[in-house]
Amino acid sequence: MSKPKALVTRPLFPAARAILDQHFNVEYWTSPERISRAELLKRVAEKDALVCLLTEKVDEELLALAPKLRVAATVSVGYDNIDVPACTRHKVVATHTPGVLDETTADFAWTLLMAVARRLVEGDAWMRTGTWPGWDLDQLLGGDVWGKTLGIVGFGRIGRGLARRAQGFQMRVLYHDQVQVAPEVKRELHAEFAAFDGLLGESDFISLHVPLLPETRHLISTAAFEKMKRTAYLINTSRGPVVDEAALAAALEQKKIAGAALDVYEHEPKVSAALIARKDVILAPHIASATVDTRTKMAVMAATNAAAVLEGRRPPNALNADALGL
Ligand code: GLV
Repeated sequence: MSKPKALVTRPLFPAARAILDQHFNVEYWTSPERISRAELLKRVAEKDALVCLLTEKVDEELLALAPKLRVAATVSVGYDNIDVPACTRHKVVATHTPGVLDETTADFAWTLLMAVARRLVEGDAWMRTGTWPGWDLDQLLGGDVWGKTLGIVGFGRIGRGLARRAQGFQMRVLYHDQVQVAPEVKRELHAEFAAFDGLLGESDFISLHVPLLPETRHLISTAAFEKMKRTAYLINTSRGPVVDEAALAAALEQKKIAGAALDVYEHEPKVSAALIARKDVILAPHIASATVDTRTKMAVMAATNAAAVLEGRRPPNALNADALGL
């Protein structure tokens, strides 16, 4: 019997390829350029499985063109690229990669926090361009981290990971989420629940860890910046559209906050010119989970999810398993 067919939009890593090659007749997109929408639609048409990245949209149009498709496995924890209800309508299992990137992403949020507070990137630019005039007392003065207040918006696995890191810096940790955590988690993480506005007003650092949903789009907008301390820093490793980028640029320009460090953007891969022009923003290219180990684990997880569906098993990380009665 011939193997089912899979389209995989990146060559992934050998460990993930080994799983896929065992189960599928795989077509890998190997070009250095990202697969275009037209190529994706053309190539997915006869496939049983799709393993894709967060840059590829799995929507009604794609699903309608791929009648044999049984699984769409994104190599990411965020799945705003996947229309899950549309997958359910088309009886396609949608999967993602939770759990394996939490610590790596929390590490990077912490990296951004430290780097923006201490103006590391500005200093690095001085050294490379030979513009450092030598030591001086009031050069590149930043904000302290030790003992300050950290506000975590979205207290899931990654947000909690950040809270753990903050303990080492004796920070006061506030969190905001739809649900409050159990008392033992609160005690372990030394984190207090705060209303959203209260968190914005009291935090020296505000770090975002919510998924992109209609209700989180532009969660951080002009009104939110108005409530922040003028000395506050914003860190975003979640999804770009959670922050209104134009409002952020205006808030920085008007000195409503002290700085920002971003890993994600409203219109990736574009970054607004107003932000690029600013020194009080660190701009990272969506790399919070980008370590060798973690990206390998994510790819293996996606491959395992895809293989499970084709073997008739409930995939470990399905987003619509219940809706499909798996
Ligand atoms: C990265 O942004 C992810 O969602 O895994």
